[in-house]
Amino acid sequence: MKVLVIGSGAREHALAWKLRQSPHVTKIYAAPGSHGMARVAEPVNIKADAHNDLVAFARENKIDLTVVGPEDPLVAGIVDLFQRKHLRIYGPTAKAARLEGSKAFAKDVMSRHGIQTGGHKVYDKAAPALEYLANCDYPVVIKADGLAAGKGVFICRTQEEAEAAVAEAMVEKRFGDAGRKLLIEDFLQGEEVSVHAISDGHNILPLCLAQDHKPVGDGDTGENTGGMGTYSPLPQITDTQNAVLERDVVVQTIHAMNREGEPYKGTLFVGCMMTKQGPKVLEYNVRFGDPETQSIMMRMKGDLFEVLNATIDGKLDTVEVDWDPRSVVTVVLASGGYPRDYEKGYKIKGLDTDFGPDVQVFHAGTKKVDGDWYTNGGRVLSVCALGSDLKDARARAYAAVDKIHFDKMIYRKDIGFRGLKG
Ligand code: GLY
Repeated sequence: MKVLVIGSGAREHALAWKLRQSPHVTKIYAAPGSHGMARVAEPVNIKADAHNDLVAFARENKIDLTVVGPEDPLVAGIVDLFQRKHLRIYGPTAKAARLEGSKAFAKDVMSRHGIQTGGHKVYDKAAPALEYLANCDYPVVIKADGLAAGKGVFICRTQEEAEAAVAEAMVEKRFGDAGRKLLIEDFLQGEEVSVHAISDGHNILPLCLAQDHKPVGDGDTGENTGGMGTYSPLPQITDTQNAVLERDVVVQTIHAMNREGEPYKGTLFVGCMMTKQGPKVLEYNVRFGDPETQSIMMRMKGDLFEVLNATIDGKLDTVEVDWDPRSVVTVVLASGGYPRDYEKGYKIKGLDTDFGPDVQVFHAGTKKVDGDWYTNGGRVLSVCALGSDLKDARARAYAAVDKIHFDKMIYRKDIGFRGLKG
């Protein structure tokens, strides 16, 4: 079977790496892919937003399954297009993908179906938003309504910070159209977890829990990024809490989408806050998380191709997945300056190291020139390591990180700190 993976980040590299392990898969292409993924997937020079070209490629190359990594093509309707052309593709339709494409839509769905989430207000003009911010309690969370690559979220502890966030989104238009509408949300106290599940619209396959580290700096300081590292499992989350997350968040959401008349097929990734009152939804994502996927794929025991294929056919109940009981830690190596401006083109050393079977390095912003690797993006590499427990996995991940170097490299040194607290 031939597979096409759309995207070029470390998430897509991890998905292609896992798909490559399936005995059903004979060939994987990645569009646009990257030099770093080339060992597992042949790069194809088509961008993720060139939907018609992707259709033509899938047709010409008799692709059996297309897997979409990032959210933008899903929100823009790539699944609907492929389906109209009778091509097999994994992911939600554009209507279902509004769960991520519009945070205001997601809040409406939650409120219509009794799914627990924080209070919020929606504004499409700066003046009333600023008026509200002059009289509200702090902290508040300000979010761009549309897609902003994980960067359109501001945790504002003062009125001044909140006004700056509104100006950035609505006046400077840093997020373009995505910031035309803003949500001002209650700040929820607790621990955030990344809940992933796959659904064929009826059956649900929960994936292992992970925890991301969104702020750029150690101790959760600095600006929010797409994610600086993950780990799994989460020792601090009990089996009962996990069961509640599945029942009250995942199952409820899949049912809600059915009742909305938009059955949800694909990966549902819910950012949840574990509050004293129980889990509350922070946001929906309609694809695999990055860097959550890197950790999840490291622990997944089972055939990802069979899972995705069965999802398309509505037969998710026919496949089984197990989880490596060991822990995994993923550390993101990024370019200094990220999530704002950064320079590219620094030589990366150490990638030819033999890290051993329990370490994987997934590429995101890298480029190979004349046999040497160079930085080519904000998030550059994801270094993942399995270990007997969280402490061991973390030690192994950072030992591997120590062997890699590029100028202005930044990374968090505390991935997994919450899991180690107990
Ligand atoms: N790591 C967060 C995300 O993928 O949105």
